[in-house]
Amino acid sequence: MNKVAVIGAGLMGSGIAQTCAQAGYEVVNVDVFPGALEKAEANLNALFDKKVQKGKMTEGEKCEILGRISYSSTYEDVKGAYLIVEAVPEKIDIKKETFANLDQYADEETILVSNTSGLSISEIAAATKRPHKVMGVHFFYPAPVMKLAELIRGLATSDDTYRTVREFAERIKKTIVDAPEFPGFIVNRILVPMQNEAAFMVMEGCSPEDVDNAMKLGANHPMGPLELTDFVGVDVMLATMTGLYEGFHDSKYRPCPLLETMVKAGHLGRKSGRGFYKYE
Ligand code: CAA
Repeated sequence: MNKVAVIGAGLMGSGIAQTCAQAGYEVVNVDVFPGALEKAEANLNALFDKKVQKGKMTEGEKCEILGRISYSSTYEDVKGAYLIVEAVPEKIDIKKETFANLDQYADEETILVSNTSGLSISEIAAATKRPHKVMGVHFFYPAPVMKLAELIRGLATSDDTYRTVREFAERIKKTIVDAPEFPGFIVNRILVPMQNEAAFMVMEGCSPEDVDNAMKLGANHPMGPLELTDFVGVDVMLATMTGLYEGFHDSKYRPCPLLETMVKAGHLGRKSGRGFYKYE
């Protein structure tokens, strides 16, 4: 039980791979998109170089952790993993296709975990022939830094699966909360509507700086809601809000039109160089 696979090498997937490797796991990070693995590897090297420069990590520790991560563009390399964490884009069809593929390539006893931020675990599990071995673990960005993991059981998740996943989350040093299988789980159901409301205030004429400063200084948030939206990705935040709206069929979760316009314009936040703020 020392090998895990992480599917997806984007911001979340690469961070989850790093978290697992730091906890001593052998990790294979799989991504089928050209260039994604190279980018993830280069980013992680740069992050660790900075930690060595700052004296927070030795060169030896850096090499040891990096040596535990391998990169692959084929699902065949998930063989031998006792647990697989999926972190592909937040679209139900992509999740279901990924799980159907993993079901074919993973060992029979392997547990499949989704890092969905709000989609139905039961629906994702139904794309496999092992729904009792499917569960949700919701990580937060940046995954190596954020202490929480929300654990979400689907309707068919077995007690054995839950226990093993809980042990995994403990081994990677996360604080665990059990979250209900409803859109947004706990954190996003509370956090994302606040970000959405902040976007409405910008649409009404407030400056992003004023909204963010108000929440940083008036509510002690480490980042303002708009800064956080840029940090996580405007598209990711909009997709989560849309998931709440469609999942609860409640108008209180309607996504702010400004967010939709920003996504159409490619203003996706830090990763695209422009969101509520501009980045170098
Ligand atoms: N990946 C990995 N590590 C990172 C990182 C990243 N993207 N960004 C920062 N870090 C690490 C740094 O390396 C640093 O580690 P060391 O102390 O070992 O050097 C540490 O985090 C602190 O970084 P900084 O000193 O540069 O910056 P900071 O003190 O301002 O903290 C922050 C940065 C931790 C991101 C902080 O601003 C924060 O907590 N922001 C709020 C984050 C948040 O709310 N996340 C949840 C988003 S919602 C979500 O994720 C749900 C979803 O479904 C999308």
